[in-house]
Amino acid sequence: MSDTATLRRQDNFYLHPWENIEKLDANERTIISRSEGIYVYDSDGNRLIDGPAGMWCVNAGHGRREIADAMAKQALEMPYFSPWSVGTPPSGRLAEKLAELAPGDLNHVFFTTGGSTAVDSALRFTMFYNNYRGRPEKKHIISRQDAYHGSTYLSASASGKTRDKNYLDFETGFVHLISSPHPKRRPAGMTAEAFRDERVAELEAKILEVGPERVAAFIAEPILASGGVVVPPPGYHRACLEVCRRHDVLYISDEVVTGFGRLGHFFASEPVFDIVPDIITCAKGLTSGYAPLGAVLISDRLLEDVRGEGAVFSNGFTYSAHPVACAAGLATIEIMESEQLMGHAQSVGPYLQERLRTLEALPLVSEVRGLGLMACVDCAIPGKETLAAEYDFGGRIDQHCQRLGLIVRPIYSMCVMSPPLTITRDQIDELVSILRQGIELATEDLRREGIWK
Ligand SMILES: Cc1ncc(COP(=O)(O)O)c(C=O)c1O
Repeated sequence: MSDTATLRRQDNFYLHPWENIEKLDANERTIISRSEGIYVYDSDGNRLIDGPAGMWCVNAGHGRREIADAMAKQALEMPYFSPWSVGTPPSGRLAEKLAELAPGDLNHVFFTTGGSTAVDSALRFTMFYNNYRGRPEKKHIISRQDAYHGSTYLSASASGKTRDKNYLDFETGFVHLISSPHPKRRPAGMTAEAFRDERVAELEAKILEVGPERVAAFIAEPILASGGVVVPPPGYHRACLEVCRRHDVLYISDEVVTGFGRLGHFFASEPVFDIVPDIITCAKGLTSGYAPLGAVLISDRLLEDVRGEGAVFSNGFTYSAHPVACAAGLATIEIMESEQLMGHAQSVGPYLQERLRTLEALPLVSEVRGLGLMACVDCAIPGKETLAAEYDFGGRIDQHCQRLGLIVRPIYSMCVMSPPLTITRDQIDELVSILRQGIELATEDLRREGIWK
């Protein structure tokens, strides 16, 4: 094993996602070289809790021999063949299993290479669907501010996080953003129900403004994830679905984060949000992060509508349904079922939320929110709402926490927590205790620098 300085030097040859080019070659990133359970180990051997489960994805936890063995077995038996011309045992098995786990009649699966390509393929499918049906003008997409749907041109265009829009181009001709249902934006004195109704009315108004005959789809994460773990008011998704149904607009539920256990279910749309969408996109937890794979689950009804002569959906990837990734997916689901990880997540999720809420007593924690094993500790300097973001308060907390043994996912002044589903109550206590110390130390920094008294 090379020493950390060498690994860091080598790492600077690699342009990371969201690379800050200004700091090119000067990054001193933590190098993670080993992992086990909910823990990762850096190149100096320090143990850290994996607070974000990698990137909301290592749901079954690290060091799962069953998944590694299934992947190795598949790679030796038959690593790859073209998904255009043949089927493979793991891709068919996984598709059947996903159809069984999915709600309603979402019984067909289009495999992709990750979440962005799943969203991209879902949106392209809606275009194909309407073009084939002789409605080429029906291709506008409605999404929301705070949404993140991916990093291809189309999925990024359907994303709504303004800070991600620097120096890049986006489709604005047929993509429309409506307001986020962030409870923080609820005006004082307005009830949650009235706020929900207002946001739902905005969706309907946008459909009517663009023209129902021109709107193809509404895409929404059940909980806006990297937009800050925004849990919508009760009944919001159900009401949005009803609006979509009224105007013949397809509903795409982007479960790239919420799928595979984060909310205690394989898919959260029906059991948690009371909706059976037309299309579900998923990725991440599908293989527990052991291999890149995404999937688009499409309803039988939609497929029936385009089942005719010449209906070729010309979209796909060399690595669609990669056999090794599908073997990882099957092994992941097997672990989740045999260890009853959904039940475990349902039981420890509320405990994580309850313990994290104790941090609201800290002066710079403005709100702790979330559901299940998705949470966000939002920080702000009272009276100076943007300051905590300007001073990269989340990043400072992460630096302190890493020294103390916890990796945080900092997003400006927010700390996102989405640990592996296997986390125990004791480990949650450990996570929250380190996070508390990290926030206290970052608060001290601001005091010392005279930014906050
Ligand atoms: C809700 C959602 N959709 C899509 C994506 C894109 O997935 P990927 O990064 O696997 O392309 C993400 C990634 O974080 C996501 O959070």
